[in-house]
Amino acid sequence: MKTVLVVYHSQQFGNTKKLAEEIARGILDAGGTAKLINTNERRVTLDDFLKVDAIALGTPDYYSYPAGMIKTFFDDLYLWDKEGKPVKGKPAVLFMTHGGGGRAKQPFEAFAERFFQRVGETVTSGRPIDDTAKKSCFELGKELLLRLSAV
Ligand SMILES: Cc1cc2nc3c(=O)[nH]c(=O)nc-3n(C[C@H](O)[C@H](O)[C@H](O)COP(=O)(O)O)c2cc1C
Repeated sequence: MKTVLVVYHSQQFGNTKKLAEEIARGILDAGGTAKLINTNERRVTLDDFLKVDAIALGTPDYYSYPAGMIKTFFDDLYLWDKEGKPVKGKPAVLFMTHGGGGRAKQPFEAFAERFFQRVGETVTSGRPIDDTAKKSCFELGKELLLRLSAV
């Protein structure tokens, strides 16, 4: 069975967590397993990352940038790669929430391009989280699993 690591940062209202949970529902619906880590609770380890087949990554917009702990995750990936660990090339889907700005999308996608094979389009939602974004996340989780099952 394919496993997806759903890494997200959610701290202010639980908005990003709601989207993470929809992605996880989509993954389960398509026959996969989802492991969720909120970087507000703990840091992602190399072991967490190497064990999974794909990743779903979500951030709130903080000052037009990904949240600090999501940036730390990218920093860790960079360093693991330099140490020779096989961290590049996993399929990934992206999602983000914002308070009306949403300019974190560009830097968020730019970091992700360095490490992952992107699947689908980044799902974004303002406040409150809307049903369209939830549905898109559910579908994105399914799409990621179907992509994994095809290889
Ligand atoms: C420190 C901080 C900085 C923020 N900066 C922005 C911003 O620049 N642009 C924006 O649209 N929203 C900004 N927001 C709003 C959050 O992106 C938004 O409320 C988000 O949905 C919170 O996600 P969460 O409930 O999962 O923590 C900021 C929130 C915080 C706490």
